[in-house]
Amino acid sequence: MVYFKVFGQGYLILGSTTRTSDLLEKRSVNYSDRSKMPMLIDLMGWSFNMVFMPYGSWWRRHRRAFHEHFHANAVLKYQPIQQREARAFLRRLLVTPETFAHHIRFTFAAMIMDICYGIKVSETNDPYISIAEEALDGITQAGIPGQFLVDLLPILKYVPSWMPGAGFKRKAAYWKQINIEMAEKPFQHVKENLRAGNATPSIVATFLDSLPHTNDKRQEEEETIAKDVAVLAYAGGADTTVSAVQFFFLAMAMYPEIQRKAHMELDAVVGPNRLPDFNDRQLLPYINAIVKETMRWQLVAPLGAGHMCTNDDEYGGYFIPKGTLVLGNAWTILHDPEIYPSPEEYRPDRWLRDGQINPDIPDPSIAAFGYGRRICPGRHLSDSSLYAMVSLILSVYTIIPPADERGNPIHLRPKPTSGLLSYPTPFKCIIKPRSNAAEALIREQYTD
Ligand code: HEM
Repeated sequence: MVYFKVFGQGYLILGSTTRTSDLLEKRSVNYSDRSKMPMLIDLMGWSFNMVFMPYGSWWRRHRRAFHEHFHANAVLKYQPIQQREARAFLRRLLVTPETFAHHIRFTFAAMIMDICYGIKVSETNDPYISIAEEALDGITQAGIPGQFLVDLLPILKYVPSWMPGAGFKRKAAYWKQINIEMAEKPFQHVKENLRAGNATPSIVATFLDSLPHTNDKRQEEEETIAKDVAVLAYAGGADTTVSAVQFFFLAMAMYPEIQRKAHMELDAVVGPNRLPDFNDRQLLPYINAIVKETMRWQLVAPLGAGHMCTNDDEYGGYFIPKGTLVLGNAWTILHDPEIYPSPEEYRPDRWLRDGQINPDIPDPSIAAFGYGRRICPGRHLSDSSLYAMVSLILSVYTIIPPADERGNPIHLRPKPTSGLLSYPTPFKCIIKPRSNAAEALIREQYTD
């Protein structure tokens, strides 16, 4: 445990599962609040985002609604969308493999827009995606506690926008407008389609359909929750698994032997005449091990989100004042050499015993998705999306490192970016169909 203060704000960093379990799970009633973030919440209008909501009944109602659509069984119904978009990704990759990072982002945006709103986005200049990307950029910039001085000195939020040094207020006002558009536009689109009787199935349509048609306050609130849940699924889902897939590409380019083993498993189970699907998952332990190792090796959210302590507490002889921001250090937990030997190495085999997933190795979800009552509710969707992408990519493609001017392979290394979410620093790799038969399978896949 490490405790420190920055401008009067106390931070407690927990470096093991014993600590995260003792405080964030067993005492979660006291460790489930969020910090006040005046820039993001008051000025940029992100109060509708459950990630930043204070612990209480409004958060609980959002959480319940989110759970209803994203629990382990609920996400099964999104498999056809995940499968379709992941297959379309294979096709795009064939045409422009060098922009693979862009294709990954688009694939996740397309999945989540269809799941939430039934909207099929287009690949170039899609108005929904452009707005969302800008809104998410705002979160990335303002989401790190202390990034803007107003988060440390909340009184600054009353400074008039025209004053020198108040550039943050003008920025916030711009982002606020973008956030409103991001939440309202697709939501109103579904409402109009429902009214016209031609809405495609989606979370928002199901939600609105299930509401009793009254005009009371509760009805209005439920509608707000439906809108918040959908936009939040986009905000939480569009950028996160993207990072995991990018790290997966990097790992494959760095570890050809692992890729070969994965190819062998896929060839044996799926064969050369079709693409893998969700029915194959149980029969592909090595692919499942790759999914787990990808989530462990480099972390999408290395420090997760801070859990604010509501009341003074005492733990292991230490006093923890209320208001302390408690963070689980997912990096040290998932890189503990006692549990994951040579943790810096990407080694899917560590998850296997006698060719099957070894249940004794703690799953990356002990830390990668946060903890306790605030644990990521999108983790099941993320897991199945990652499986769909990994199995499909490896079934038809080989990923290799780029060559230098003498034709020698360039030695790639993981260089994660810092920030609330972490991505690999942009890197190049060569992506080729594994065979003519693989290329023929890719060409059969549809893109709009
Ligand atoms: C690789 C993928 C993902 C990672 C690593 C990830 C990680 C996290 C982490 C660390 C938290 C904070 C948990 C805490 O406070 O202890 C979180 C919260 C959250 N995530 Fe994810 N996430 C991922 C994917 C998704 C997806 C796909 C969705 C939506 C479909 C989603 C929606 C959310 C929401 C709504 C919260 C807020 C929960 C709350 O405050 O109660 N996430 N996620």
